[in-house]
Amino acid sequence: MIANIASSLLEHYRVHARRLPWRAMPGEVPADPYLVWLSEVMLQQTTVATVTPRFARFVERWPSVEALAAARDEEVLGEWAGLGYYARARNLIACARVVAGRGGFPDDEAGLRALPGLGAYTAAAIAAIAFGRRAVVIDTNVERVVARLFGIARPIAEARAEIRLAADRITPDEQPGDFAQAMMDLGATICRAKAPRCGDCPLRPHCAAFASGTPEAFPAPKARRERPHRLGTAWWTERDGCVWLVRRPAKGLLGGMAALPGDEWGDAPSPARAIATVAHGFTHFTLDLAIVARVEPVGEGWWQPIETIAEAGLPTLYRNAVAAVFSRRSDLFAA
Ligand code: ADE
Repeated sequence: MIANIASSLLEHYRVHARRLPWRAMPGEVPADPYLVWLSEVMLQQTTVATVTPRFARFVERWPSVEALAAARDEEVLGEWAGLGYYARARNLIACARVVAGRGGFPDDEAGLRALPGLGAYTAAAIAAIAFGRRAVVIDTNVERVVARLFGIARPIAEARAEIRLAADRITPDEQPGDFAQAMMDLGATICRAKAPRCGDCPLRPHCAAFASGTPEAFPAPKARRERPHRLGTAWWTERDGCVWLVRRPAKGLLGGMAALPGDEWGDAPSPARAIATVAHGFTHFTLDLAIVARVEPVGEGWWQPIETIAEAGLPTLYRNAVAAVFSRRSDLFAA
């Protein structure tokens, strides 16, 4: 019964595996660990649709872990701009340097887990997908699939240990990499959080949530917590077709990224009249950023030609801020 779960899923995967640029299809030689690692890091918190073109660009620029290890931090952070969760890019650089220094990736889960910034999920995914090791690979999609299969109704945060045990029970010794990717594909395309396509699911005969008649009710949604709200000011200093940009401190939110200079974000409204504002949602708080014109540049930075602002490596918050300034300006011209 349990064994049938893996074989039913793998049979389905042989026919329905999504073709993804970082993926070896079932039966092919496993993908290069560098590509597996990079794709798994990019895919944390970011969708396949967003990652696909960005992955291609990244790999063209740095085709190997050695090439990435030799890159300057600013180049890598700039290439990551817009993907969010920039700690991932900083960890990526640190990890690439260690891997290049030791002559390649370790080929088992424990060795991978010891690399800087490489968490339990990523270590298990690389071990299974790139090295064919049996590993229990659990991301949020897989958690949902397992919760439904075994009829685990509690919110995921309360059921993690039970889900891990259940996932371990169904993970096969053979083709663990295909199995892991098949579970992820199933979660992304069939066993979706909303409107699951149970009619197309190869695991339907084994699924407790399907049998219950209300598969979508599994697992219970997590209690929503209100995010705190913060206010901030960013300075817009423009001269001779250039705008003054700075680099944020290496540690902390958006660490090491290009930015407009500004104050600490907090409770205080902006002290001056804004030329534009942007609202932005971070994971743990929401932000209203007021953009205020200022004559003298603030902090250590550089004059970025406005014509090439798209190449400055600004994260989404500041890209939106720049766009808001220009959109206000074109409104004024139009008026
Ligand atoms: N999401 C995260 N990693 C993935 C993978 N290897 N295949 C499909 N979706 C994923």
